[in-house]
Amino acid sequence: MRVLGIETSCDETSAAIVEECGDAARPWRVRSNVVASQVEIHRAWGGVVPELSARQHIRDICGVVERAVEEAGPSDARPYDFIAVTQGPGLVGSLLVGLSFAKSLAWSQGVPFVPVHHLAGHIESLVLEGGEMPLPAVVLIVSGGHTSLYRVAAPGAYERLGRTRDDAAGEAYDKVAKLLGLGYPGGPVIDRLAAEGNDRGVALPKTRLTHPDRNAPELPGRRDFSFSGLKTSVARHVALRRTALGLTADAALPSPEIRDLCASFQRVVVESLLDALFDAARACGAGSVGIAGGVSANSRLRRDAVARGEAAGVPVFVPHISLSTDNAAMIAAAGLRAFRAGRRGGWDVNADPSLPLTSSA
Ligand code: KG4
Ligand code: ZN
Repeated sequence: MRVLGIETSCDETSAAIVEECGDAARPWRVRSNVVASQVEIHRAWGGVVPELSARQHIRDICGVVERAVEEAGPSDARPYDFIAVTQGPGLVGSLLVGLSFAKSLAWSQGVPFVPVHHLAGHIESLVLEGGEMPLPAVVLIVSGGHTSLYRVAAPGAYERLGRTRDDAAGEAYDKVAKLLGLGYPGGPVIDRLAAEGNDRGVALPKTRLTHPDRNAPELPGRRDFSFSGLKTSVARHVALRRTALGLTADAALPSPEIRDLCASFQRVVVESLLDALFDAARACGAGSVGIAGGVSANSRLRRDAVARGEAAGVPVFVPHISLSTDNAAMIAAAGLRAFRAGRRGGWDVNADPSLPLTSSA
């Protein structure tokens, strides 16, 4: 069975063909995964502009889907048996482009379609790359829009253990980079500069949340995140250093100071993320942990996660960068999981920018 996946929740237009391969341990194979990134368009604005994103998806979607089908190569039967598409969460105008396109295509081709939660896609990207994870698994999803922790007790059963109360980790990277005049997106450039800096050079606080979220169920391993205090500390440090050096309000700090600041910021972010992930894994008796989303490209996060996994005796799943940033192959994989669990979309399904993640069935 083959599925066409479509993803347009933020600033990537993506389509992919994924097929089942009849192997219980490695259930799916990627035939094609085409991504049209809008990063160059949004760079000029210092972040994603929702209106521009939706319009660019309209421009790109037909070509991207055609290429995904073409690159998948010939199949014995039809090019795809159903369509999986991101229903939410994300930017509503952007989601609507992919969802409307998928519904129209499914109707015209006479195939079913399956609405998919974007974060279920990120979780299944780990399985797509590394095979089924030993369960229960604890998965950290960390991107420009999300920082959440999920427990996966059974295939397709997702339970949220925590989320950010304010900024996502990737958002903090982007905002700190903007503050330092390093451009957008901030993650890759801070990661590169951090490698040359002293990660204890600047004292920055690690946020400890003391008030529990009363709306969230009490679960072992529950942990929320917060990154806006860290971002404010960086801003305060930069302002103080500019004053001390007699610089103007928007002048760049000397390069060695920027490198130390990047390294120190990155250490605090990575430690906060991994402390939560491995605490949760211990509390849940996890058989494996995973990290998905654009920030999982971070070199220190990957390196430290593997080291902590080895120390704890827990396998760590981190997908290749092409599967960790937003892509349609992960949506197709989550769609296959949901399709096998019996889920089908009705023609009245609408985009939902704050769709909650439950299970795939
Ligand atoms: O998953 P993604 O491509 O898009 C969404 O936000 O959904 O993630 C993009 C985010 C941006 O905030 C970017 O700065 C961050 O991932 N990022 C990184 C790195 N590469 C990308 N953050 C830290 N280190 C990196 N190497
Ligand atoms: Zn994402």
